[in-house]
Amino acid sequence: MTTPIGLFYGSNTGFTEIVVGQLIAEFEMVAPDLITVHNIADVPVERLLDYAYLIIGCPTWNVGQLQEDWDARFLELETLDLTGKKVAIFGLGDQYGYPDNFCDAIGILGRKLAAQGAELVGYTSAEGYEFSYSVGVENGRFLGLALDEENESDRTPDRLIDWVWQLVDEFDLVHLLEPVAA
Ligand SMILES: Cc1cc2nc3c(=O)[nH]c(=O)nc-3n(C[C@H](O)[C@H](O)[C@H](O)COP(=O)(O)O)c2cc1C
Repeated sequence: MTTPIGLFYGSNTGFTEIVVGQLIAEFEMVAPDLITVHNIADVPVERLLDYAYLIIGCPTWNVGQLQEDWDARFLELETLDLTGKKVAIFGLGDQYGYPDNFCDAIGILGRKLAAQGAELVGYTSAEGYEFSYSVGVENGRFLGLALDEENESDRTPDRLIDWVWQLVDEFDLVHLLEPVAA
């Protein structure tokens, strides 16, 4: 059975993969059995078309670049028509190590997916982080959720819980979960 939400992530050194586990655990508490997880290294980009809602996870690497598996598929994303799909992006980065490129991948992927017709949701405030610049920020908000496992892993659980509730609202999952009237 296809779930309504597909989560696609890439991870070089495993941090994003761990966060995916945390995110799924939070989602299961609130809205169980709705998500299928894929490592983008293992599937063609066309699999994004299988889902009405997408959650995309990508750390920033090599000073403002996408994680390598997303980078390898970046141009292939241009073959996809994502019209009608709601997409939420989360990114991992290191705000003190790379303050001029913090979580750039959120912006690089977000703008690309929006250009392919997707509606971006899951924006969060950039307040409370310490960095100089990010391609992922517009008008004071990340185009998704920024996480920093190097410096603020203790804040990740709360950020994820807040984001899950935000997505339940913005994906309109409450409606999806409503029991059918007798
Ligand atoms: C060589 C290198 C370059 C990096 N470049 C950036 C960067 O430009 N911006 C950023 O926010 N984080 C950067 N990071 C931090 C990673 O995004 C962070 O370690 C992340 O948690 C890695 O996720 P992963 O283990 O899922 O690959 C970099 C890390 C390394 C080792």
